[in-house]
Amino acid sequence: MEKISHAIFVLFGASGDLAKRMVVPALFRLFCQGFLPQNFQMLGVSRSFFEDDAFRKSMAEGLEKFARGDSVSLEKQKEFLSRICYFPIEYSQPKAYFSLKEKLESMAIGKEKNYFFYLSTPPLLFEEIAINLGNCGLNLENEGKRTIVVEKPFGYDLESAKRLNKRLLSIFQESQIYRIDHYLGKETVQNLLFLRFANGIFEPLWNREYVHHIEITSAEFLGVENRGGYYDGSGILRDMVQNHLLQMLALVAMEPPCIIESNAIRNETLKVFQSLHKMSHQEILQNTVRGQYTSSFMQGEKFLGYREEKGVSDESRTETFAALRFYIDNWRWAGVPFYIRAGKRMPTRVTEVVIHYKPAPLSLFTRGGLFPGNMDKEALCETCNQLVLRIQPDEGILLKINMKVPGRGFVTQKINMGFYYKELANAYIPTAYERLILDCLEGDSTLFSRADAVETCWEFITPILKAWEGDEIKLYGYPCGTWGPQEANSIFEDKAFGWRYPCKNLASDGLYCEL
Ligand code: BG6
Repeated sequence: MEKISHAIFVLFGASGDLAKRMVVPALFRLFCQGFLPQNFQMLGVSRSFFEDDAFRKSMAEGLEKFARGDSVSLEKQKEFLSRICYFPIEYSQPKAYFSLKEKLESMAIGKEKNYFFYLSTPPLLFEEIAINLGNCGLNLENEGKRTIVVEKPFGYDLESAKRLNKRLLSIFQESQIYRIDHYLGKETVQNLLFLRFANGIFEPLWNREYVHHIEITSAEFLGVENRGGYYDGSGILRDMVQNHLLQMLALVAMEPPCIIESNAIRNETLKVFQSLHKMSHQEILQNTVRGQYTSSFMQGEKFLGYREEKGVSDESRTETFAALRFYIDNWRWAGVPFYIRAGKRMPTRVTEVVIHYKPAPLSLFTRGGLFPGNMDKEALCETCNQLVLRIQPDEGILLKINMKVPGRGFVTQKINMGFYYKELANAYIPTAYERLILDCLEGDSTLFSRADAVETCWEFITPILKAWEGDEIKLYGYPCGTWGPQEANSIFEDKAFGWRYPCKNLASDGLYCEL
């Protein structure tokens, strides 16, 4: 990867919420740390009309609100804002892109013309913008780098994802396209790779011989907020599972790459997606549960049901909760059930991966030395070790093991061996957007989704979406602040097990822990 000294970051959708909340603050933090190219400039582009100064003012407001690190001087902020200007555009007007090209040429310093087109726009505009950039030659790398960055969702189903990829790839090379899945930018998600491949002790235990099942949960306390319009046409399977959760799954389930290099890693994650067992209609009926939140009172406050949210149809059948059981058909994982659960308006915000290990072959210390097969649910679960990989919040890793209760007798007790990120003194943890934008400026595509991976994920998800279109699979209501419909427990292959109920605090779990 070569470092560049000039870059113009062209932010499409610059007047939108995501730009203000995530993208520009991330750029600012990178700037403060001296990570941006020496001659970095940003050109905000959107339909609204702004003078440069008015646009800078609105970006400054965003920084006040969303940029982390209050020790940053006003001087720095001024310097950063002085590198920003604005260009209004009508996205559908081919001519406007020729003017954009002229604008960029007028901004370019010296001969190096590296342009990064970041599309923070509704996905419907991706194709149109890419085509128009191509029409005026802004895709060609004759005079410098040309990169296009798109945010998820990449398509709406398999067909639309294929169409989008085909279109983008007819204009840009795969190496010029960066598809952002912000979960891959999270430190804790990247640490899955390190835990597995920087240690020798986990590998022998990371397979069907020792693992009983794997559980991935992504719960949010928030509802759809002000995104009801978008969300109602999407649902949680598209919004979270097809991308963020499957990407985490890939890092958990992949084989070791031959080298730590973008394509080597992405080849291995692709193999996981290719090995996902495509469910038949019957399997979908048995192994998937969907739900939608309904209004309820929590701690004296009333929370609206999904259908009462702004922008949502009052007859909506869009799911805000999904639970799946599925398998990975390869040598490492054959027969090991994977459980994925994602939901909005859950009791707390938590994302984690839990590796549930098989019980010891003969449990000598619990309940009079019964064989696991004869144990009741509680006793069986008690003996199983768990490795909890907490993505957020209270980030860390916990190994749950059985220890002797001190004193007379041979009674066991589960204890936690833990690592907490907060104990890493002075470690600055960049936001996902900081990491990903920097990687993209430096030309490192390791943490970005490749076209083939995106399509393969859709191949797995699309039959479920199709099956959910009909009425055969019920849409259950669940009150805000609960862990989704009760029926989600029914998908466990081994009825002795059920979902973990994680708490905000990594060390605790259970239905009644502090949220
Ligand atoms: C986004 C989804 O991709 O991820 C949102 O569109 C969701 O619906 C968000 O709330 C969750 O991200 P995080 O980083 O807060 O877990």
